[in-house]
Amino acid sequence: MARRAPLRGRVGALALGEEPLGQRRPARERFLEPVDLQEVQTDHAAIQPGLRLVAMADEHDIAAYYDRGDEQGRLGDWGRLEFLRTRELLARYLPAPPAVVLDVGGAAGVYALALAREGDEMHLLDPIALHVEQARAASDAQRDAALASAEVGDARQLPLADASADVVLMLGPLYHLTEAVDRARALHEARRVLRPGGLLAAAAISRFASTMDGLFRGFLLEPGFEALVARDVAEGQHRNPDGHPRWFTTAYFHRPDELAREVATAGFELQALLAVEGLATMLDDTGALDDWLDDPTRRELLLRAIRRTEGEPSLLGASSHMLALATAP
Ligand SMILES: C[S@@+](CC[C@H](N)C(=O)[O-])C[C@H]1O[C@@H](n2cnc3c(N)ncnc32)[C@H](O)[C@@H]1O
Repeated sequence: MARRAPLRGRVGALALGEEPLGQRRPARERFLEPVDLQEVQTDHAAIQPGLRLVAMADEHDIAAYYDRGDEQGRLGDWGRLEFLRTRELLARYLPAPPAVVLDVGGAAGVYALALAREGDEMHLLDPIALHVEQARAASDAQRDAALASAEVGDARQLPLADASADVVLMLGPLYHLTEAVDRARALHEARRVLRPGGLLAAAAISRFASTMDGLFRGFLLEPGFEALVARDVAEGQHRNPDGHPRWFTTAYFHRPDELAREVATAGFELQALLAVEGLATMLDDTGALDDWLDDPTRRELLLRAIRRTEGEPSLLGASSHMLALATAP
């Protein structure tokens, strides 16, 4: 992967109403408080070579869901808080730009484009052709901070050389790879392409996200949703066989400790396991969330409340999304 000339001095143009995030600090300063890994087993057992695709029906469901084209606007709409907080956590942990960053499952490029504006060399990969087309079009529209590449691809087989990236973002693939062996393959690929000391930022959806949505958004009142939630809680396997437009698609929902274990088992050193939306998950879709985010004073109050509890182990499962930040050995 050829390095572009570093794009120095560009401080993020604001997108999606995001606030300036301040200077990113050198990573070394930030990795001071590794999480307690007492319960995390590190097992370097080799993953069997050869990719195994997820079941065809699952692949079809996931593709049909994303072919609706909603991802491009999601983070500026009901995913506003997820976006703000993920950007905040990335700003805290990523090395100072310019870094070589691979956004695996980068969809239409909302994060990749923002990081390119900050000066990072951004490479985006996604299995949905529509997403890659949207990312390329958006990249063309910001020519002074274009993506270095945007290609169709799969987290389980990254088209990059060993030790060629400073950062791998995996904000999505781990929850669409429903089999543990596939998630392990994706994490091993991330480790392979990261340089020693490189950073992985991997997102998961909480095992309890659909229960919370069921309550806050009232889905539990709709026929069929409770059965789906019961399976989510028992097995983590989320399915939406009738393709209900608001009930998401085929996914695996993690318990926080599972995410930590999977990352460590792939050979990473876990630095932090943090809530993305945290307890503000309970404001989702009630209209109240917009009230908090639209007013700058209230937004800061909200963000401080989330930060204060972001690493509290007993609360991680109460956040829709979690983010694991880990370094390659
Ligand atoms: C909910 S979207 C998240 C997109 C974006 N990263 C974000 O955080 O907003 C999940 C993304 O993962 C992608 N994805 C699903 N399976 C994948 C796989 N096996 N490899 C890479 N990406 C995958 C989907 O195409 C989709 O773009």
